[in-house]
Amino acid sequence: MKVLLVGSGGREHAIAKAFYNSGYEPKLFCVSELVNPGINRIVKETGGEYYVGNPNNPETVFQTAARAGVDFVFIGPEEPNFRGVPDKLEEEGIPCIGANREVAEIEMSKASMRDLQWKYMIPGRLWYKKFKTFEEAVPYVEEYAESVALKPARQVGGKGVKVIEDFQVYLKEEKKRVKKKHVESIYRDYMKGYDDVDFKILIEERVWGPEYTLQCFTDGRTVIPMPAVQDNKHAFDGDLGPETGGMGSIACGMNLKWSVNDDRAILTEEEIEKSTEIVRMMVEAIQKETGRKYHGVVAGQMMLTSIWGPTIIEMYSRLGDPEALNVLAVLKTDLVEICEAIISEKLNTIRVEFEEKATVVKAVSPEGYPLNRDLAKGHPAIVDEEEGVFWASAHLREDGVVETGGSRLIECLGVAESIPEASLIAERLTSKARLADGWGLFHRSDIGSEKSLERRIMLANMAREIYKYRERKGILGKRIIWIPGKGLEEVG
Ligand code: GLY
Repeated sequence: MKVLLVGSGGREHAIAKAFYNSGYEPKLFCVSELVNPGINRIVKETGGEYYVGNPNNPETVFQTAARAGVDFVFIGPEEPNFRGVPDKLEEEGIPCIGANREVAEIEMSKASMRDLQWKYMIPGRLWYKKFKTFEEAVPYVEEYAESVALKPARQVGGKGVKVIEDFQVYLKEEKKRVKKKHVESIYRDYMKGYDDVDFKILIEERVWGPEYTLQCFTDGRTVIPMPAVQDNKHAFDGDLGPETGGMGSIACGMNLKWSVNDDRAILTEEEIEKSTEIVRMMVEAIQKETGRKYHGVVAGQMMLTSIWGPTIIEMYSRLGDPEALNVLAVLKTDLVEICEAIISEKLNTIRVEFEEKATVVKAVSPEGYPLNRDLAKGHPAIVDEEEGVFWASAHLREDGVVETGGSRLIECLGVAESIPEASLIAERLTSKARLADGWGLFHRSDIGSEKSLERRIMLANMAREIYKYRERKGILGKRIIWIPGKGLEEVG
């Protein structure tokens, strides 16, 4: 058996490892712009080949798959989905684990995702407005005096989201100015060069609660959830600093338990069931809308809010990074078996099982990431490749030197009985990387610590108390908001 993997980050190294551990012993091939040293080793050991090429180009990926004669292709990142790589492969008769262009719209266009959710009345609907230009958005930014999340309306690598609280009346004018400035930078900077969506700016009501990612396998008929994972997006300890692609993630059991033998958890089993149902409804809705089947991984990047309980913040049309490491580390079922069941649309005939273990991932990044990636790029890296160390944004040059790629350099995985124990294992592994030119590396120490876990459980309890009250009173998801130009409206 031969498999082509598309992409070269930490997520793809974890996927490569899952294929390496498969009983089917596939030969692994990879296509990407950077040569990830960890994936490269697996490719060589299994007798495959590593091709340097643009993973977002449908023709390049198709030619690579055809030349290697692979049985199927597994797409790691989102951008190849947005560019129609799975469509091209399927047209050419090569099976693919990856969402085709039309169904991947639920990730690519955050505005279309919200439209779909409201059209099909899927629970967890947030109030939103979408805009094609900066000028159109200005009156809303100036008049709407509530806390908001300002977002690029397209997925642009997890960047550009800003939440602005609007509680202090004395800062009203200042906040207006900050909102306007950010909306302008969404339009002019973050969305620059993205002409594949009509709407450029999304303004959503601000909600609070613990976030989590619910990744699911789907063949378009069946949706199978993986353990919920909590990613930590901010660069520095205590959730400070700019948002990154994810500085680390935690998981235990299906519902983010403290430990295997401890029932304290961020989520309840009922909340996992509701979240899975929401993701399933989204898959059904996008298939109905497009007439296309969804083959691959779909994920709800969710929040337990006081308004709705489980609420979609965004959708992913692929595994999360680093969230993939948490789930693949405990996946008991053979990944090849799952891929074949997706391709043949028989996911309902297999049992997808996960070991009940705690997992914690900590990413180590060069200084400069995420705001000045040029500064974080091109440094010679030395890494002791112990079990649990995954290469992420790194490039193995022909002379054998490994250079930083400008994003997270390595992702360190700890597996244990409890999240705090797994956190200590991952913490130890973060010291395995250094840069030969003395440039600095950083990571977050607090991910999975007892203190941070306690705080997140407390936040979940607060949100749960309120949404359960709303549920009892029959007002789940109902609220009255003031819409500029319209006045007060009941939404929900
Ligand atoms: N961890 C965030 C993402 O995969 O986009």
